[in-house]
Amino acid sequence: MTDALLADTETRPVDPAATWWRQAAVYQIYPRSFADANGDGLGDIPGVLSRADYLAELGIDAVWLSPFYPSALADGGYDVADYRNIDPRLGTLSDFDAMVTALHERDIRVVVDIVPNHTSDLHEWFQEALRAGRGSAARERYIFREGAGADGELPPTDWVSAFGGPAWTRVDDGQWYLHSFAREQPDLNWAHPEVREDFLTTLRFWSDRGVDGFRIDVAHMLTKDLTEPLPSREELAQIPRDGNHPLLDRDDVHEVYAEWRSVFNEYDPPRTAVAEAWVETPERRAKYASAEGLGQAFNFDLLEADFDAAQFHRIIDENLEQARTTGSSTTWVLSNHDVTRHATRYGLPPLGGRPVKQGVEWVAAGGPAEQLDREGGLRRARAATLFMLALPGSAYLYQGEELGLHEVAEISPEERQDPAFFRGGEFDGLGRDGCRVPLPWTGEGASFGFGAGGAHLPQPEWFARYAVDAESADPASTLSLYREALRLRHRLQSGETLEWTDTGRADVLRFTRPNGWQAVANFGTEPFDLGDDAADAVLASSPLIGTSLPAETTVWIAPQI
Ligand code: GLC
Repeated sequence: MTDALLADTETRPVDPAATWWRQAAVYQIYPRSFADANGDGLGDIPGVLSRADYLAELGIDAVWLSPFYPSALADGGYDVADYRNIDPRLGTLSDFDAMVTALHERDIRVVVDIVPNHTSDLHEWFQEALRAGRGSAARERYIFREGAGADGELPPTDWVSAFGGPAWTRVDDGQWYLHSFAREQPDLNWAHPEVREDFLTTLRFWSDRGVDGFRIDVAHMLTKDLTEPLPSREELAQIPRDGNHPLLDRDDVHEVYAEWRSVFNEYDPPRTAVAEAWVETPERRAKYASAEGLGQAFNFDLLEADFDAAQFHRIIDENLEQARTTGSSTTWVLSNHDVTRHATRYGLPPLGGRPVKQGVEWVAAGGPAEQLDREGGLRRARAATLFMLALPGSAYLYQGEELGLHEVAEISPEERQDPAFFRGGEFDGLGRDGCRVPLPWTGEGASFGFGAGGAHLPQPEWFARYAVDAESADPASTLSLYREALRLRHRLQSGETLEWTDTGRADVLRFTRPNGWQAVANFGTEPFDLGDDAADAVLASSPLIGTSLPAETTVWIAPQI
């Protein structure tokens, strides 16, 4: 393990430039829905640049941009046609450079998304593979197989893709290729040296342009053991995910990340990476977070939990313990571009262990909108976020959550874009468009200030209430809460530990950070008396009533100096 990675576990960072990520607040931008500078209805890179002051005022330490590469948008940009370029609808490489400069001038680091499991079917490699035909070297970069059945007319296996339907698609000459996601996203063959080499080139390309770190898409899926005979879908499901599963979370994927680490370490400060790895146990996740590998991994446990004290307590303990053993820092996420926004999740009946990706099923089932408690959902979301922001480790925030946005359900089938909606699969229900609707910047105007034109997904009327201009003017708004929390967070963050205090109530959690800052969260429905500590309260997710912490509210208490 490198000294840089270990440096901050107990004390302040020795080299802040190398350890910035350990307790950073990272704001995820979904570029096509953030801000549209040229009025074509799609957010773009100059749009991000135009909002650099907004990002600085918000107080985040870094932005992570979801893919902005050339793409036919079969999967919201996660189908990349060229890894070392910008979608012309989103800008140019010099726009990108200008954005990085503007963000760096404001002390905001830049993280970009790398999508290594699959390319777009429009990628020049895949186009070449189609032209070159069976048995060609070009097909080796992907996973082509002959079909089953007398004439190879059946897919090689009965595997299904994450978006539903077969995981194999047949090409004109009769061969089939594997795609774990949409058919426009052919899986790469990670046993191929050119594939490996090309991603090293991509990592250097963006690092040379000043990018500070990378978010690695489905980091647990790259390497595969496709030795014949291939197992059936049912057999696959029985194989333990212990590092030898043919498709998922294989141990040999870490050879790839060891190579990547040596590229990251060519830079000063070393480039960082965070793995999106949907794996089964914290122990399996730790491998992605290792200092010899990507260095950090997303922990989606809070995102998959209900607003519930016992679940939060357990998840926090498990992940801090895991971070202690790996030397990495833990990550916290409540919302991202793949799941129902947490204000909405918390306004619906508890998940009770149901996968969060199906949280949208209330509407999908023709679901009674009255099931959604908008106000309660937002109150709980504010409490959960304020509690999360007080935790050791880094916090990942998703654009629009700082406005308290709810999921948008009012999108007609014709207007929907997400393949998850059209093809089903593991992202049940309405798919993911509802959290990807362009942001409201002003209460009025064609697209609520998103751009001079329209918005590529329809914005509901209620967006006006959540617009940045309205919330900026209101000290009680969710935006004001986030700004104040992120400002104070720089004082609150200290050694990467916490100490719990027994509150005498199972539904009230309280901890103290090494520098004396405390967070108290009341997950219950009865108020909790803070006594004399109420006098030192510096920020609360809902107003205190005298010395009492209301139901579903978090408060931060500053130490007496
Ligand atoms: C990741 C992304 C998701 C995308 C998928 C395929 O899970 O977060 O948006 O659809 O990978 O690239």
